[in-house]
Amino acid sequence: MANTVLIGAQWGDEGKGKVIDVLTSKANWVVRYQGGNNAGHTVEIGDQKYVLHLTPSGILRPGVKCVIGNGLVVDPLGLAEELQDLEKRGIEFGNRLFISDRAHLVFQYHKELDGAKEARLSESGNKIGTTKRGIGPAYIDKADRIGLRMGDVLEDNFDELFRRWIAAKNEMLTILGAPELNADEIIKTYAAAFDYLKPFICDTLPMLNAAVRDPDANVLFEGAQGVMLDVDFGTYPFVTSSNTSAGGVASGAGVPPHSVDEVIGIVKAYTTRVGEGPFPTELFDAAGEQLAKVGNEFGATTGRPRRCGWFDAVVARYSAMIAGIDRWALMKMDVLDGFETINVCVAYECDGERIESVPSSISKLSRCKPVYKEFKGWNCSTRNAASFDELPEQAQNYVRWIEELTNVPVSILSVGPNRASTIEL
Ligand code: GDP
Ligand code: IMO
Ligand code: MG
Repeated sequence: MANTVLIGAQWGDEGKGKVIDVLTSKANWVVRYQGGNNAGHTVEIGDQKYVLHLTPSGILRPGVKCVIGNGLVVDPLGLAEELQDLEKRGIEFGNRLFISDRAHLVFQYHKELDGAKEARLSESGNKIGTTKRGIGPAYIDKADRIGLRMGDVLEDNFDELFRRWIAAKNEMLTILGAPELNADEIIKTYAAAFDYLKPFICDTLPMLNAAVRDPDANVLFEGAQGVMLDVDFGTYPFVTSSNTSAGGVASGAGVPPHSVDEVIGIVKAYTTRVGEGPFPTELFDAAGEQLAKVGNEFGATTGRPRRCGWFDAVVARYSAMIAGIDRWALMKMDVLDGFETINVCVAYECDGERIESVPSSISKLSRCKPVYKEFKGWNCSTRNAASFDELPEQAQNYVRWIEELTNVPVSILSVGPNRASTIEL
């Protein structure tokens, strides 16, 4: 399989958790390289459902080594809780989970700041619709060179470092006229989580660099969010605060760019988005409701209803270009089963001009109207198809058409949430 990056190629929630889980049957390592617990990756195995936020989805396969890379921002309370839940469900990871000592820490303060900023932006109708997990504020601290890192927790003088950080925040809060943080209380709140996480914190760079150079090892890099939420390439400012595209791997895991052999892009057979921001193919009609209902489109992290729309080939082509996507995993084909007709956006029309790529201007993108091509649906169940040949002919044609429109082959097809409902082409 070689070293493979899996990324969402739309606005997140494409089904990355499921694909990672399927591919980990052949992987030795699964590595998260950006984001935090804004992610919610669902894995369904038999009658068991797991939603992973910070833990790499490989944790569910015994023996697979899992790394939380330097590029993440980690909420220690959230991570400790997530790991303890997994332990309770019988998942063992004592000697195969590694948390980078360079990953940054997210505190309650960051989450509250995230929420407060959103509340203020709401008043002017400009909120981003964040997950309120403190992701933006934690990356601000990192870029501002005032963040605390996982490795600091192992230092003898961590208490002092933590108090210094709190004092710096209090200076800021005083200027803003907001209530100060209570250092003793905060230290008490986090103590148990830090003690629990300490044994997993280490320098992940030597082991990962050895793994990517080992011809017998397969390393999977698990992207979170999707290319359209990338802080550089997404629908800025309606994006997350990290590089979600394949480019994030080198900086977020600390491996050379050429150690990546292959990029798999995950797309739904339609499109969803949670939070605010332009979404050219968004539907506000019965078809949109049908996608939401059949696809059970509610956020795995916040439970918010996801906005739904048709497949956007402009977005898919753009993501494939930015990330160098070699092949698609095309997900949730079964959700289209009941449609008489299906639309696919092949280009945009904006101010009388035909546009084939995603513009950087948010106001221009908001004015873009999708140019649709209509496709006759298959109108029967794909759920039990075990191979491409067993799919109804129109469903096969849909897959071939997506390949043609995006110039990228489909190599994984998903027709249900379970491991078993997967067709490899
Ligand atoms: P991620 O963030 O990309 O990992 O995706 P999420 O887990 O947030 O959302 C994907 C949802 O779709 C989850 O509830 C999955 O169980 C579900 N899912 C994944 N693949 C399929 C599929 O092929 N068909 C259906 N019906 N559901 C799927
Ligand atoms: P996975 O990995 C879908 C969205 C939020 C918001 C924007 C910024 O499960 O695909 P943030 O909290 O990151 O500052 O929010 O990004 N967002 C996601 N949408 N899936 C995700 O993760 C997301 N993570 C963040 O809804 O619009
Ligand atoms: Mg998700």
